[in-house]
Amino acid sequence: MTQRTIRFGVIGCGLMGKEFASAAARWCHLTDVNFIPVITAVCDANPDAIGWFKQAVPSVEKTFTDYRDLLADPDIDAVYCAVPHNLHAQLYVDIIRSGKHLLGEKPFGIDREANADIQKAIAENPEVLVRCSSEFPFFPGALQIAKWVEEGRFGKIIEVEAGFWHSSDLDPQKPINWKRRIATNGEYGCMGDLGMHVLHLPMRFGWKPANVRSLLSQIIEERPDGKGGTAPCETWDNAILACEVQTKDQAFPMLLSTKRIAPGHANTWFIRIQGTAFSAEFTTKNPKQLAWLPYEAGGKQAWHVMDVPYKSAYGTITGGIFEFGFSDSILQMWAAFCDEIANGTGRMLQPFHCATPEEAEFSHRLFTAALESNRTGGTIPL
Ligand SMILES: NC(=O)c1ccc[n+]([C@@H]2O[C@H](COP(=O)([O-])OP(=O)(O)OC[C@H]3O[C@@H](n4cnc5c(N)ncnc54)[C@H](O)[C@@H]3O)[C@@H](O)[C@H]2O)c1
Repeated sequence: MTQRTIRFGVIGCGLMGKEFASAAARWCHLTDVNFIPVITAVCDANPDAIGWFKQAVPSVEKTFTDYRDLLADPDIDAVYCAVPHNLHAQLYVDIIRSGKHLLGEKPFGIDREANADIQKAIAENPEVLVRCSSEFPFFPGALQIAKWVEEGRFGKIIEVEAGFWHSSDLDPQKPINWKRRIATNGEYGCMGDLGMHVLHLPMRFGWKPANVRSLLSQIIEERPDGKGGTAPCETWDNAILACEVQTKDQAFPMLLSTKRIAPGHANTWFIRIQGTAFSAEFTTKNPKQLAWLPYEAGGKQAWHVMDVPYKSAYGTITGGIFEFGFSDSILQMWAAFCDEIANGTGRMLQPFHCATPEEAEFSHRLFTAALESNRTGGTIPL
């Protein structure tokens, strides 16, 4: 199959910039795709961060320390931008105005005002494809749950719970970084960092909260500053959002949680849906396992637990018995973004597209309301 080459520039050569480079490097993993990303340019304000790319990514021809120089390069079609949250608004707006397609990291702006600036630039440049990074729905177990929702299997929804839990911040000796400071990470704290991942599938199912009552906690108050002293931890560590969802047929409760301090959990993303006719659960804690419980009136209530085959949105060379992991979900998300650029929205090779700016905008409405709820102790309508 002929593959259309999409020339990428990466802005932000940290943790996530490298993940994309690794996904692009193993594009041969995918079968039957008519597009391929090639990273031709990278930019980081810190020249040391660029070193890894120079050494590990042979396709990189140009390196920059000022992102505006990368945007001025006419030989770049699209940009992946993975920088701290306080820079999202300025950089995303400039990328969109440069006419290059953008996969931007969440939360798409440090706060609602910053997000509004990004939304305005998107509205003014409709020819540019803009999507928000969120990879967990590409796990085969999560995709299967999405299929069951689409098929209307669940009956009346009783309750939904979704979360994303980390635990490394339980260690009080972990040094402070930009994710623990309001100036760089934002007042949302853990919600801005982890919340889009949790909301992605519920929003895609049309389950948007109509209101929210939140409980936000700050657990570790200071950390080593890396210079022999200590620094205050300013952002929320954990958030529990109790929401009411109102669809056209029914209302149901939805509990969303984002936690940086959930003892024993490393990158645990999960969704549980209980319904009168069917219930299902998937968690990346047991990435192979999917559990579901079909129910008929008067019948037995028995959970089925199965190792799901490696059945991803885009076909791969991996055998069906092997395990799917984080880097596979990143590769699949990248395939979806490139597919949408190459083939167009609505003509993708498979239907699950990346998170949209509208979905990111809704997440800002929810997080802003959650901050107000925590401040006032009230339930805030959206
Ligand atoms: N999708 C995911 O699973 C996931 C995981 C972690 C982080 N993220 C998101 O990715 C983004 C970046 O997080 P990270 O963990 O990669 O951070 P990081 O600190 O590892 O990397 C950020 C990089 O941006 C660079 N940078 C800072 N200012 C810059 C500028 N003006 N121009 C160019 N580069 C600049 C820094 O030098 C650094 O190398 C955030 O939005 C975060 O929320 C997403």
